[in-house]
Amino acid sequence: MPEWPEPQRPDFVQPVRRPPALVKADALAFLIFERPDLDKSERFLLDFGLQVIRRDADALYLRASASEACCYVVRRGQQARFIGVGFELRESSGLDVLVKQAGARRISKLDIPGGGQAVLLTDPLGHEVWVLAGRQHSSCMIEQEPRLPTNTPTATPRVNATVRPSFGPAKVARLGHVVFQTTDFAGLTEWYMRHFGLLPTDVLYLPDGSPNLIFFRFDRGSEPADHHSVVIAGGLTNSYEHSAYEVQDLDALGQSSQFLRSRNWKHAWGIGRHSLGSQLFDYWFDPYGAEHEHYADGDVFTADYAPRYSPMNAAGVWMWGDDVPPHMLPKPNLITVWRAIRLLCSGKLSLARLKQMGAALSAPARPWMK
Ligand SMILES: [Fe+2]
Repeated sequence: MPEWPEPQRPDFVQPVRRPPALVKADALAFLIFERPDLDKSERFLLDFGLQVIRRDADALYLRASASEACCYVVRRGQQARFIGVGFELRESSGLDVLVKQAGARRISKLDIPGGGQAVLLTDPLGHEVWVLAGRQHSSCMIEQEPRLPTNTPTATPRVNATVRPSFGPAKVARLGHVVFQTTDFAGLTEWYMRHFGLLPTDVLYLPDGSPNLIFFRFDRGSEPADHHSVVIAGGLTNSYEHSAYEVQDLDALGQSSQFLRSRNWKHAWGIGRHSLGSQLFDYWFDPYGAEHEHYADGDVFTADYAPRYSPMNAAGVWMWGDDVPPHMLPKPNLITVWRAIRLLCSGKLSLARLKQMGAALSAPARPWMK
């Protein structure tokens, strides 16, 4: 798959134009989900590798191993749905900027483990967007398995020592990224770039050269940031696609995959290695069918790394591993047709763009495989 750095971008490919940023977000803080049954969610999330910090009648707060602050909130509610996302800023002055210039609402008493100051926005999809500063990240890293050196054909640093990773839930280190699909790709990507200074790392374009999926990273200047922390894809729905959580390495990924299987959770995709971002990955469904990804060994980039442009297709999603499963691609069924018709009738999608999206995703990912 060709990857064009910005300076070599082909003429027909439209560049992503970044609006001036109101603030620069530094990290994801947490995700918020609504679920009818907290017990069911808790069972999955503990097996997935998160830990409960607090539970009350109507909410569940979980953490990962790298910080005592909450990275996952489950609210009890009627529906199973994604509610929103939290971002962290380095400086609390950014909160004032969002109040004055974006109409953010100040939260006077923040009752989410990790504390700090917070303001609340709503994104164009209607998600709650919490913005926090001054959270407490006590250095309470939960012990990971000791990592042994890897033997290779040219070097065998591991002598008289065996590899025996333990069987059990992964020790998830942190929340890594969240992926959204939207029917308003231009509007949603502009909103997130403008509010949080997100930087495009990889941009996938349709056959006509128009961007339709962006992997965004945080602007941390000379400090490296993950290849992506927010991904926005154009499509026929407005939806949460998946969220991802970092584990130590391939052994942690593999052993936790066996453990989740032993607990009868439903596997979604993996193990494999992504191309854009390079992560080793393994996807699981939570009890409500929402995809949760374990990953390890992802790329990181400083702010001066230029965006890269690639054609959008299924083949670009992974380097090796099982083929991308059909549930991750638009389904060729009546619901999809109905969604497309509604978007066409409402003027939110043009027929030309719909054809471009279809062409991009219908190309066989592995033409050499039958
Ligand atoms: Fe992912």
